Amino acid sequence: MANPVLNPDALDILFHQARTHSSWLSQPVSDDLLRHIYDLMKWGPTSANTSPTRIVFLRTPEAKERLRPALMPLNVDKSMQAPVIAILAYDLKFFEKLPKLFPHNPGMKDRFANAPEMAQTNAFRNASIQGGYFILAARALGLDCGPMSGFDNAKVDAEFFPSSSLKSNFLCNLGYGDHSKLFPRSPRLDFDEACQLL
Ligand SMILES: Cc1cc2nc3c(=O)[nH]c(=O)nc-3n(C[C@H](O)[C@H](O)[C@H](O)COP(=O)(O)O)c2cc1C
Repeated sequence: MANPVLNPDALDILFHQARTHSSWLSQPVSDDLLRHIYDLMKWGPTSANTSPTRIVFLRTPEAKERLRPALMPLNVDKSMQAPVIAILAYDLKFFEKLPKLFPHNPGMKDRFANAPEMAQTNAFRNASIQGGYFILAARALGLDCGPMSGFDNAKVDAEFFPSSSLKSNFLCNLGYGDHSKLFPRSPRLDFDEACQLL
C-alpha cells in the first residue's frame, strides 16, 4: 500500500471507522458548523465547475415537521431525533451561475440552457458527487451522517421547492451519533470484485 498523505487517525474518521448513524446524542450542531461543511465541500470538483448542489438545513422542530409526511416510516424517528436534517437538492438551472463559476468560457451557459436533457444528467451526476463531498466534509469536522433516499421526492419538492428549478436528491441526517446503538458493519466488495486493472 502507498503511504497515505493523511495520518491513520484521519483515514479512520473519514472512512474506516465512520459509520452511518440512526441514533443521535443530544449534542447540538451549530450553524457555524453547517457553514463550515459547505465551505469545505464546495471545493470538490464538478464538471465545468457547475456546482449544482443546493442544500436546505432543517434545524428546528417546525422545519423538520414539514419533512415528516415525505419520509418512509423507517426513516421518521431517526430523522426527527437528528439535530439537523439536510435536504441535498440540485438546481436544474445551475447553468445560470456559470458566468460566475466558469468565467473563461462564456459559451458554456448556453450549451446547457439549450440542452435540458444534458443539463438534467449533469445536475444529477454532479450533485450526487457533491453529496459524497458533503458526507466526507461533515465527517472531517467531527460530525456523523445518516444519508437517506427513503422518501418521496415529489412531496419534498412540493413542500420545499414549489415553482422552482430545485429538485431533491437525497437527505442526510447530521449530528453526533450514539455509537452504542450501531449494529455490526456490513462488508464491502473486495478490490477484485469491484475493480479491474487493464
Ligand atoms: C444515498 C443513500 C441513501 C440511503 N438511504 C437510506 C435510507 O433511506 N434509510 C436508511 O436507514 N439508510 C439509508 N442509507 C444508509 C446505508 O444503508 C448505509 O450507508 C450503508 O449500509 C453503509 O453503512 P455503514 O456506513 O454503517 O457502513 C442510505 C445511504 C446512502 C448513501
